[in-house]
This record gives sequence, C-alpha cells and structure tokens, in this order.
Amino acid sequence: MLINNKHFRTIWLKEDNDLVIQIIDQRHLPHRFVIEHLTHSDEVIVAIKDMHIRGAGLIGATAGFGMYLATIEASKTNAFDENLLLIASALKETRPTAVNLEWAVNRQLTQIKKGKSFEEKILIAKKTAIEIANEDAEYCKNIGLHGVKIIEEISRRKNDETVNILTHCNAGWLAFVDYGSATSPIYEAFERGINIHVWVDETRPRNQGASLTAWELLNHGVSHTIIADNTGGHLMQHAMVDMIITGADRVTRDGDAANKIGTYLKALAAKDNNIPFYVALPSSTIDWKIRDGITEIPIEQRNAGEVKYISGLHNNQVITVLVTPQNSPAANYGFDVTPARLITGLITERGICQASENGLLNLYPEIQY
Ligand code: MRU
Repeated sequence: MLINNKHFRTIWLKEDNDLVIQIIDQRHLPHRFVIEHLTHSDEVIVAIKDMHIRGAGLIGATAGFGMYLATIEASKTNAFDENLLLIASALKETRPTAVNLEWAVNRQLTQIKKGKSFEEKILIAKKTAIEIANEDAEYCKNIGLHGVKIIEEISRRKNDETVNILTHCNAGWLAFVDYGSATSPIYEAFERGINIHVWVDETRPRNQGASLTAWELLNHGVSHTIIADNTGGHLMQHAMVDMIITGADRVTRDGDAANKIGTYLKALAAKDNNIPFYVALPSSTIDWKIRDGITEIPIEQRNAGEVKYISGLHNNQVITVLVTPQNSPAANYGFDVTPARLITGLITERGICQASENGLLNLYPEIQY
C-alpha cells in the first residue's frame, strides 16, 4: 500500500541486513508512522502480544519471521530441537484466537525439520517466512478480485449510485501483509472506479476501526465515515448500508467465524434488515479441526485497562485518559463468534462460498481430514 507515495508492506526483512525484521508499529497510528526493528524472537513475542502488530494474517506472518530468528538462536545452543520448540510454544501462546499464528509456526516446524545442517535449517526458515508473507499478500489480492464482483453487482443494481459498505475492526492491509481481507474488495472496487463509501465502526476498546481502517482508507482516498460501534443497526434500518464485509480471526470447518468483539451484533442486525453479511479470509484462517465456533474457538480476554482508558492526541501529544470510575471493574473479551447461519458468504482467495463444510470443501477439495 502507498504511504506518501511509497509502497509499504506491513512486515519485511531489512534490505541491507537480513537478521533484522522490520514492522510498522501500529500502536502509534494514526498519529505517527513508526518502523520498529525486531532482532530476537523475544522481541517478536512482545510485538505480537502487545499488539505492535495485529490482525490474523499479519500475526501469522510475524510468527513466521519469529521462527526464522528462533532457528538462528537455537543453532547457537547445544539443544537445537528443544530450544526451537520452546520458542515455537511461546510464540503460539502470544494470542489465542487467530489460528494463522499456530498455522504459521507449525508450517515452519515442518519445513525446518527438513534441513540437514543448522545452516540449511536457517535458510529454510528464512525462505518459509518470506513465502508465508508473499502468500498472504497474494491471497489477499485474490480475495479482492473475487469480492469486488459482489460490489459491482450491487452498484449495477443501484444504477451506479453509491454502494455503502460497513466494516468492523481493521481487516485492512495493516492486518495482513498487504491489501487486507475485508478491505481488498473495497480497494479493488475503488481502483475500478465504482462509487463506494465505507462506514467504519470505531471498534472499541482498541479502536482499530477509528485509528487504523480510517487511516488506511484516508491514505488511499476512499470515501468513508467513522461511526460509533452502536450506529450500524440504525443505518441498516434506514437503507444506508448495502453490504457488510468483515475479516475473521478463525473460521471453523462448518463456517462459524470468530472476529473482533461486536461483529456478531452486526450480523444479527444485518439478518433482521436483509443486508448481505460477508466474511473475507485467506485459507490460513480456516481451522479445519473444529466445527462449533461458539464452544471451540478460544476467545482472548485482554487487560481491563484497554476498556477503562482511552488514548488520543492532545496538543500534539498522545495522552491516555480514564473514562470510567477508577474502581469499577471492566471485562475485555477480544472476539465473538458469528454463527454460519448469519453469514451470506465467505470470500476466500479461491472464490466465494457458502459458510458451511460443503461450501468450504468445494473450494478446498484437497482437505483430506
Ligand atoms: O485484536 P486484533 O486487532 O488483532 O484483531 C484482529 C482483527 O484485526 C480483527 O478481528 C479483524 O477483523 C480480522 S483479522 C484480519
């Protein structure tokens, strides 16, 4: 994606030193654009846990690079396998809901095992990390090419009047390596000159919509409006939303989708108002081992401070203020699950399918278990 006319991905190897991973530190957006250097797997673990980076695809890609650094670190010890596995487990434990994390770490473990010497293992880990990142970008691009057809169809039906799309959280290029999942069809529609407008849910408590999705869309020149999280139902009742596209952190074999807290409520309102509700995801987000999202997807609970405090710009300084009584307890569930029955379709890199086992297996017939 372009920032001040320069193309950026969200993660890359430093050009002149491939022992350094560079990321956009998202904690500072939208007010400052900061690039952070990661040189040790411990720093990768902190970056994922403390959300310097976030979003299912990018969490997976970052873990892939973390495993590359881990391979280098383990090769300097007398117990390569044990130490590599320890770092792999620590990486997997950083965030529980997005399955891309476990998927990327396991893919690295399988590949690294094939190396016969430490040097070879390190080379394999580096190559695999780059492959995971490139694949993520390519898959997201394809999600856009498939998803744009839905937007084109609505635009035709509306005789080129504005297509209003609502999205929740940030499933944009910042949440992946490039393009994004939910935003990829939006960017593609924009490139094709379709008249679109995006309603951006602010997405309390971390405000990924207000601070990240809005920043992305603004940079790209896409017309958008930030709304308080509870506004969507009202807009839907007044025909001001034509479709909803969200991302996903984990989709089960039966098509249930975990996504940022509040997504389920949007899906319920969409159903009541007959508005199509799509979930966009690369296949690395599918957890083929589970079926029932509500009981089987682990839901991350984060620090209550994220609910009680809010940060923003004041006199050119980012400050944090308390918005609740000091002593009131707060709960911070990071995600919820939207059951497949509320989802109009899943937009994947291979096409659009029903949110069901049959739908998914039609697109991924190679899944044997
Ligand atoms: O807690 P986060 O910011 O890592 O949340 C994940 C997300 O970005 C959203 O749930 C998103 O909609 C799907 S992941 C691309």
